[in-house]
Amino acid sequence: MPRTALFLTLAMLGGVSSATAAKLDHPSPMPKVAVLMKSVVDKASTDLFNRAGNADPANGADQILPDAKGWAAIATDATRLKSIALELQSPKTGKIGEVNWMVQARAMESASTAALHAAVARNPGALAQAANDLSDTCSACHAVYKKQR
Ligand code: HEC
Repeated sequence: MPRTALFLTLAMLGGVSSATAAKLDHPSPMPKVAVLMKSVVDKASTDLFNRAGNADPANGADQILPDAKGWAAIATDATRLKSIALELQSPKTGKIGEVNWMVQARAMESASTAALHAAVARNPGALAQAANDLSDTCSACHAVYKKQR
């Protein structure tokens, strides 16, 4: 049994590397992705980052906690960002054969899910952490895939 498992693992690794080696890290243009970024991600993330920045417990006395409407807006933004992260993992939209692409799209999915949970729990510390992680995924993916103009 262990031998079979090892074989399968090696076969999978071999499959992954040969499938991706030839087409790693192809930058934009990605017109479908550009539309999603411009129409949804830009605004949803700007709003979420602003609210999370204000709510960060690291602000001490200057911390501004969201009111009920604010928490609801954060939950809505996080849900939108999560759905885009899922869409980026679809073969119709994303470069799903490229390892870096999938790593960052999944990281965006988990950070936006964490932001959603933080909003539901009204937990400002968890929100600030999730927003930080989310912002890291934007830069990490853009560094590889967004053509620097
Ligand atoms: C998995 C990869 C990936 C992730 C994660 C990602 N982006 Fe992008 N983004 C792109 C690519 C690729 C482009 C360039 C598309 C093009 O111009 O062809 C882009 C473009 C953009 C643009 C420019 C759109 C335009 O044409 O004006 C904005 C704004 C943007 N992203 C914001 C964000 C923010 C904010 C986040 C994080 C919350 C994020 N992106 C996360 C891949 C990603």
